[in-house]
Amino acid sequence: MTTTLSRPEVGTGRVVWFTGLSGAGKSTLASALHAELVSRGVAAELLDGDAVRENLSKGLGFTRVDRDTNVRRIAFVAGLLAKHGVTVLVSAISPYADTRREVLSGLPNPTEVFVDAPLEVVTERDVKGLYLRALAGEIKHFTGVSDPYEAPENPDLHLRTDQISVEEGVTRLLTHLEYTA
Ligand code: ADX
Repeated sequence: MTTTLSRPEVGTGRVVWFTGLSGAGKSTLASALHAELVSRGVAAELLDGDAVRENLSKGLGFTRVDRDTNVRRIAFVAGLLAKHGVTVLVSAISPYADTRREVLSGLPNPTEVFVDAPLEVVTERDVKGLYLRALAGEIKHFTGVSDPYEAPENPDLHLRTDQISVEEGVTRLLTHLEYTA
C-alpha cells in the first residue's frame, strides 16, 4: 500500500480487537495491518490467539471458563502495552459478548472489529482442517459447530471477509482508526 500515515499523538496507545470465527481472517487482517503500521513507524504489537495459547495460555482448553481466562490474559497484556503507547492488535475468537464487553471497556481506546464470514465459507476454506474434524465430531466444543459464537451486535467495524480483499480490509481499518490516507 502506498498511503501515508498521520499518526495519532505519540504515547497514545490503543487496542484493536479482532473477533470472529476460526478461519474468518482475524490473524490475516491483524498481521497485514501490523505490517502496514510498523512500516510507517508506529509502535505496534500483535497478540494472536494461536501464539498466546502456545505461551501465555499454554494448557488452557476451550471451555467457557478457559476461553474467558485466555481472553482476560490477552486483555491484561494488551492493557500494559497500550499504557506505554503501543497500538495492540488482538486476534482471538473471543466468542462471548459479555466477556468482550468487559475486557474492552477496561482498555484504552478500544476498537472492536468483527471479522465476519459465514460458517459455510469458513467451513469451505477450512484453512487448518479443523472444521472437517469438528463436523465429524472429532473435536468437541468447536466454535460455530458445537460451541457458541456470539457475534458483536454493534462492532466499531464490521468486515465481511468473503466480500472484500485483505487489502480493502486494511484500508478500511486504517481509515476507521484515522491513519489518514
Ligand atoms: S478463544 O475462544 O479462546 O478466543 P483462540 O482465538 O485463543 O480462542 O484460539 C482459537 C484457535 O484454537 C482456533 O483458530 C483453532 O486453531 C484452535 N482450536 C482448537 N480447538 C478449538 C475449539 N474447540 N474451538 C475453537 N478453536 C479451536
